[in-house]
Amino acid sequence: MTPRPSVLVARAVFPEAVARLREHFDVVPNPDDREWSRDELSGRLQGMQGLLATAGEPIDVALLDAHPQLRAVCLMTVGYNNVDVDACTARGVLVTNAPGVLTETTADLGFALMMAAARRFSEAERFLRSGAWNEWRVDLLAGRDVHGATLGILGMGRIGQAIARRGALGFGMKVIYHNRSRLPAAAEAPLAARWVDKATLLAESDHLVLVLPYTPANRHAIGAAELSRMKPTATLTNIARGGIVDDAALAAALRAGRLFAAGLDVYENEPAVHPELLTLPNVVLLPHIGSATEATRRAMVGCAVDNLIAALTGAVPPTPVNPQVLS
Ligand code: DGY
Repeated sequence: MTPRPSVLVARAVFPEAVARLREHFDVVPNPDDREWSRDELSGRLQGMQGLLATAGEPIDVALLDAHPQLRAVCLMTVGYNNVDVDACTARGVLVTNAPGVLTETTADLGFALMMAAARRFSEAERFLRSGAWNEWRVDLLAGRDVHGATLGILGMGRIGQAIARRGALGFGMKVIYHNRSRLPAAAEAPLAARWVDKATLLAESDHLVLVLPYTPANRHAIGAAELSRMKPTATLTNIARGGIVDDAALAAALRAGRLFAAGLDVYENEPAVHPELLTLPNVVLLPHIGSATEATRRAMVGCAVDNLIAALTGAVPPTPVNPQVLS
């Protein structure tokens, strides 16, 4: 009898997901849910054909070369910048991610974070909790309007379009966006969305939301030069990936009042946060929870499980990143 494939599950996931994997594979879970070091991950991958991973485990040439038996790396996240996809493809290792299932949840969070920055939620709550609220004032914690303002979106994929829908249809916002490729007219029309070049996006946005995938070419896509082109009354929201924004430059702009406020869910060196950001009142800071609702996290893990089962049982995985491996 051919031995069952073995799979490693890099983080603690829902019990039903492990149970489904166990119907097909020998499964090694991570019940302590501790983030493994590179060496620990490599040690545990010995003899494994499949890995169910997150956006946190570095899947690089050294790891792949140490485990030539590995056939599939299935991520429960949509982002896969932790994976050297070319190296996987060259070695015939399938990579899958979890697009689609987190779009609306992440768009909800992105929109809420943008509103929280514009309307100074965190600052207002800290003010109240500190006991400093003792009277009504005409300018108390006055923020910036969201309704009717210009919403700029950098990266108009699924999540970018879902945020644009919220802005255009729910809040009467004017939507402009910059993306490598322009959307078809049929997608732009219901939102009256307008493709603009990056310089125009920076200059015209009242609220700029970053939703582009991280690639080395996107590192510091928003740095000091880009921030200096934005309106001093504008907000910047990053729900994409750390590293797309130069956090030190952003902190300097916020401190100097060259940008009204920011909302951040991701950071250059997360979970470490640039120390200056932690001291500023005009930035709302979240711990990378864009897709974190229970239903969506279950759907993300479920998607990775579907992919892993298909990949190691000869079926067609639903969401491959490098489908060329399948042929
Ligand atoms: C994703 O799915 O890429 C989210 O950022 C979670 O890491």
